Amino acid sequence: MERLDKVLVSQGIGSRSEVQKLIRKKSVTVDGGVIVKPEFKVDPENTEIKVNGQALSFKKYLYIMMNKPAGVISAAKDDKDKTVVDILPAELKRKGLFPAGRLDKDTEGLLILTDDGDFAHKLTSPKKHIYKRYYVKLDGELYDSMVSEFEKGVEFRDGTKCLPAKLEITDKNTAYVEICEGKFHQVKKMFAVFSLNVIYLKRVKIGGLELDGKLHTGEARELTFFEKTSIFIGK
Ligand code: URA
Repeated sequence: MERLDKVLVSQGIGSRSEVQKLIRKKSVTVDGGVIVKPEFKVDPENTEIKVNGQALSFKKYLYIMMNKPAGVISAAKDDKDKTVVDILPAELKRKGLFPAGRLDKDTEGLLILTDDGDFAHKLTSPKKHIYKRYYVKLDGELYDSMVSEFEKGVEFRDGTKCLPAKLEITDKNTAYVEICEGKFHQVKKMFAVFSLNVIYLKRVKIGGLELDGKLHTGEARELTFFEKTSIFIGK
């Protein structure tokens, strides 16, 4: 059981003081009865809570797909830079959201935000080997033998060995690359081994989930149930 005001805050109805005002103004009902005490305890998944006559469809956790723009950092909070949580639209913002996994500040594309710690852990755990697919532009020419080098597992200059990765060369200096781990700056470092600099990087797929092509850079929306599960099936 949770406090009514806390539940309303978690569902994005307003700040703690705003929802307390709503409750005191008799705008909130629980199973048909007006409740005026913010501390009233409810079981949000098994009660009907209405605010100004509108039923709340309670969501314990939120799962959001974002097409991350360059220039924002993959964190919940930062003193200096704008974060991916800062740029969420108001209707998706709620306490506790954080990015499940990281993209560099200058990387764009598919990022999942959630407030479900277990889900985030499953998504980012190196043991799960979930494939992430990136579109890459390089400052120089790719060559065919790199495909087998990626397949064997690239070794960074410091000796760190990467797991086998898939490289699909699409043009002289563009490619798709799929990796199933998330070492710091991994894609950039893999190409650096071949003396190539990544000049544009966009994540387009995580597991079986593709970035929604209709989602413009900087936009975000909730994942459907099917999309959420598709992350963990196939690739
Ligand atoms: N690899 C990188 O180098 N940067 C990213 O943002 C993601 C993968």
